[in-house]
Amino acid sequence: MNANTVDLIAEIGELRRSREAVILAHNYQIPEIQDLADFTGDSLALSRQAARTDKPVIVFCGVHFMAETASVLCPDKQVLLPDLGAGCSLAESISPQQLRKWKAQFPGAVVVSYVNTSAEIKAESDYCCTSSNAIQVVQAIPPEREILFLPDMFLGAHVERMTGRKMHVWMGECHVHAGIDPERLDLLAQHHPHAEALIHPECGCTTPALYLAGEGRLSVPIKVLSTEGMVRYAAESDTQDFLVATEVGILHRMRQEAPNKRFHAVNPRASCRFMKRITLDKVRDALLRMQFEVKVPEDVAERARLPIERMTAIG
Ligand code: 13P
Ligand code: SF4
Repeated sequence: MNANTVDLIAEIGELRRSREAVILAHNYQIPEIQDLADFTGDSLALSRQAARTDKPVIVFCGVHFMAETASVLCPDKQVLLPDLGAGCSLAESISPQQLRKWKAQFPGAVVVSYVNTSAEIKAESDYCCTSSNAIQVVQAIPPEREILFLPDMFLGAHVERMTGRKMHVWMGECHVHAGIDPERLDLLAQHHPHAEALIHPECGCTTPALYLAGEGRLSVPIKVLSTEGMVRYAAESDTQDFLVATEVGILHRMRQEAPNKRFHAVNPRASCRFMKRITLDKVRDALLRMQFEVKVPEDVAERARLPIERMTAIG
């Protein structure tokens, strides 16, 4: 670490104290941000942390929809996103108008939105979920009810498979996870026959990988898990090598939590440019200038709160 970085981290530390701020970081953030944060975790854990903090300021090192979720859960706090360009291609894949039109086609259907959606989409939803609890959320809905699940088609397919429940699934995808394909996984598995594969349900390889594993044609066992689930599983399992199918930022966390194990990215180029927009300089500037505040208008927040609270309560 060079002297500038050390000074910058010290400056952030002082500002964090004087502003009475908590710094939350997603598992895909750059290592320096993960190390600096008060708490690093997946979408569900970060939402819960935001809801329970007693600090008046939350610096959200993640992407815009995460800061919005924190704003809905904590309307009295100041939520800062260090770079407003930190968006999400998956969240962009459905607009409120598209959702309203979809709902009109299926009156009475229950709308389940993945957390990777805007607050306006959440305000049009009955339940929100994350990759950690999507299965439990769908299981909590009476079996006779029709479900509209959005926006991720790979997560939707995984939930259908695990619950045995047929849903209407929006055809959205995350460009980073969709680029993690079954061929790469298969090739890496051949090189590491004693490894286990940990796959995020947003990945394009999830369905084909499960199919290949079911047919006995994939040489390693697989587990479909949220980012936090991967960290936990790797630390607890007896396996030494893991093939990791998600955004590469997670590898830093995994190596910290299980330093004696080996982690191999299924696609080393699977890097989210939105997550990587957050840098130490921008976190310092966020605290110095109290920028950029993400505040969900109260009329939207009021409607988004119940589905988000259902999400944080389940699983
Ligand atoms: P989780 O951290 O909830 O698994 O979500 C991954 C993700 O894509 C966030 O952008
Ligand atoms: Fe969105 Fe994909 Fe980036 Fe996650 S990894 S923030 S889903 S674009």
